[in-house]
Amino acid sequence: MRVYLDNAATTPLDPGVMEQMCAVMKATYGNPSSIHSHGREARTLLEKARKTVARLLNTSPAEIFFTSSGTEADNTAIRCGIIDNNITHAISTRIEHHAVVHTLEAMEKAGSIKLSFVDVDSRGNLNYEHLEQLLQNNERSFVSLMHANNEIGTINDIERIGDLCEQYNAIFHCDTVQTMAHFPHDLSKLKVHFMVCAAHKFHGPKGVGFLYVSHKVKIKPFIYGGAQERNQRGGTENLYGIVGLAKAMELAYANMDEHTQYIQGLKTYMKQHLEQHIPGVEFNGETDADKSLYTVLNASFPDTEIADMLLFNLDIAGISASGGSACSSGTDIGSHVLTGIGASTTRPSVRFSFSKYNTKDEIDYVVEKLREFFPAKV
Ligand SMILES: Cc1ncc(COP(=O)(O)O)c(C=O)c1O
Repeated sequence: MRVYLDNAATTPLDPGVMEQMCAVMKATYGNPSSIHSHGREARTLLEKARKTVARLLNTSPAEIFFTSSGTEADNTAIRCGIIDNNITHAISTRIEHHAVVHTLEAMEKAGSIKLSFVDVDSRGNLNYEHLEQLLQNNERSFVSLMHANNEIGTINDIERIGDLCEQYNAIFHCDTVQTMAHFPHDLSKLKVHFMVCAAHKFHGPKGVGFLYVSHKVKIKPFIYGGAQERNQRGGTENLYGIVGLAKAMELAYANMDEHTQYIQGLKTYMKQHLEQHIPGVEFNGETDADKSLYTVLNASFPDTEIADMLLFNLDIAGISASGGSACSSGTDIGSHVLTGIGASTTRPSVRFSFSKYNTKDEIDYVVEKLREFFPAKV
């Protein structure tokens, strides 16, 4: 049996998305910037995809800029958001994705900004009082805080963060890579200036995403070249990817409640079965449904002999999941997220992440294998 429980890393393509992409690949080869009929045909598909995204997020198409990835969207939001608005202070946490942390750290190292980190607790929850203090003490900050953590699943209250940012005149960038098309974001209500998306996290194609830039904030072009993406991002657009992104998003929204319930059910089932069968198992991050991303379960296992090779042994058993060790010895530099919440450096952690394509039978198989690795003492 082969089981894929690494859906926070990437998801399989939905057949409906593939069908749509293939149809466009076969029939449409014009450059969307060309003014002849072949180009206009491609342009129509591109703008239709933008309208679909904007409609689902309850915002205007003029605020959606297609990119090559979530990483590019995060980099752009941070660099342009800070530089083009003359901001000199940024606020984030140590447990953001590297697309955010490394970008901010590089800017701090270059002397462009002073960087402050908000405290988080041992489950990855943000200290909102500390955030407010930092905002109070630093006029017009750039705040970069994610919606849900990709390694431990803990969710931030982005309405509350948005209110605080508005109160202190800060610019708010939210890394929504793990929640876009998994949660019904309503951009007419959220007080956010930048939001990001990566299509491959919700059964869309890899290598395509978008950046939402609120009309309330101005940025200069982020890739100089042609007039693509309303002069902001030069380069011929990834038309097939963009069409696939919009289709994947449409499919995700059409069945969001049903999928959320189903996937949450799998996560709860796995958590209960691990607690029942694996002595000493613990969990990193929040696990309650209202505080935790329903697609992610980060389990921490007892430190036994098998523990060193846990992911390898899971892989041999046909199970794909992600590591997340807080250990920083040897070649394994460990997880900055687990280190950031002060997780044990000796217990091995595994991130299991689920999608609509997983089943209870698969979970049973994984738990059965884990029982072999961590037998109950007799
Ligand atoms: C929270 C978060 N931000 C950003 C990214 C980067 O997205 P991409 O893989 O499209 O570059 C990821 C991908 O794992 C992520 O989980």
